[in-house]
Amino acid sequence: MTTPTIELKPSARPLPAAEREAILADPGFGRHFTDHMVTIKWTEGRGWHDGQLVPYAPIPLDPATNVLHYAQEIFEGLKAYRQPDGSVATFRPDQNARRFQRSAKRLAMPELPVETFIEACDALVRQDKDWVPPHGGEQSLYLRPFMIGTEVGLGVKPSNEYLFIVIASPAGAYFPGGVKPVSIWASQDRVRAVPGGMGDAKTGGNYAASLLAQAEAAAHGCDQVCYLDAVEHKWVEELGGMNLYFVYGNKIVTPTLTGSILEGVTRDSLLTVARDLGYEAEEARVSIDQWRADTESGALTEVFACGTAAVITPVGTVKTDGVEWTQGDGTPGEVTVRLREALLGIQRGLTEDKHGWMHKL
Ligand code: COI
Repeated sequence: MTTPTIELKPSARPLPAAEREAILADPGFGRHFTDHMVTIKWTEGRGWHDGQLVPYAPIPLDPATNVLHYAQEIFEGLKAYRQPDGSVATFRPDQNARRFQRSAKRLAMPELPVETFIEACDALVRQDKDWVPPHGGEQSLYLRPFMIGTEVGLGVKPSNEYLFIVIASPAGAYFPGGVKPVSIWASQDRVRAVPGGMGDAKTGGNYAASLLAQAEAAAHGCDQVCYLDAVEHKWVEELGGMNLYFVYGNKIVTPTLTGSILEGVTRDSLLTVARDLGYEAEEARVSIDQWRADTESGALTEVFACGTAAVITPVGTVKTDGVEWTQGDGTPGEVTVRLREALLGIQRGLTEDKHGWMHKL
């Protein structure tokens, strides 16, 4: 694998500081983008080349480009956090880089070297560092690396050229209600991914497939859809774009990775953070019937969703065909809040990073 250097194109025209500050005061999620982006090309026979840091701009595509028809696309999501001393650090970018390689493999795309992925993110954050929100609030700079097949032609085959891009977007809370519990619609007839499919790859198709189910969740008055497994329609998998955790007193449990669940970096980090705090943490299969029965018996004390964008968000009401129940008293549970604070403490540089997860720029 070739590792290109990233060259800065000098034609940068940043947004005036006052406009940027106004955006940072209330960024929302995924609505505003920073001044630059990184682009790197891959061509068959040549490998990775032409790494550039350029002004953020539209990308011209021929109407017959591969990605527009056969969806050879993968992406990642990671965040940069302002530290107490004013510096900036990203959280576990190597994990995102490795997952990006696994997704690439699944979609027959070339694997970007881990160090190039990290260098591309670093170059963009360094250039647009004024877009990293101040320390102390809920906000961060969300990085969105992605790759598309760019060969022009309608033959169904892997593209012979690709474009890797990193863009960045200042981010506040993913859910408009902040850390208020979200309501869940557990769909009995829509599935997210099948065994042997692409459920464990981070590809746009999985999210396109979730939109109808998400609209049905909204029609049932819920914020998010929860998927059950595609074979038995019984085992809890994940939400539209987040993993799930169940809290049984001093033990937290997340669904086992079966190949149709995305291996979340936040999900993985929480297994460790929870153990550090003295909780038991394990992966196990949890059925929708067990979820309800354990809530009713009082054994299941809290449920929360987790992801880079959503961080940790408590689950309140759960609805599925004909039944509805509420976790605890409908407010964020004690373990959920403790884990959230512990994880954010590491990310914001407030507590010791004993696992070496923060990547300082
Ligand atoms: C993330 O948490 O980074 C995600 O990818 C979820 C969603 C915004 C697509």
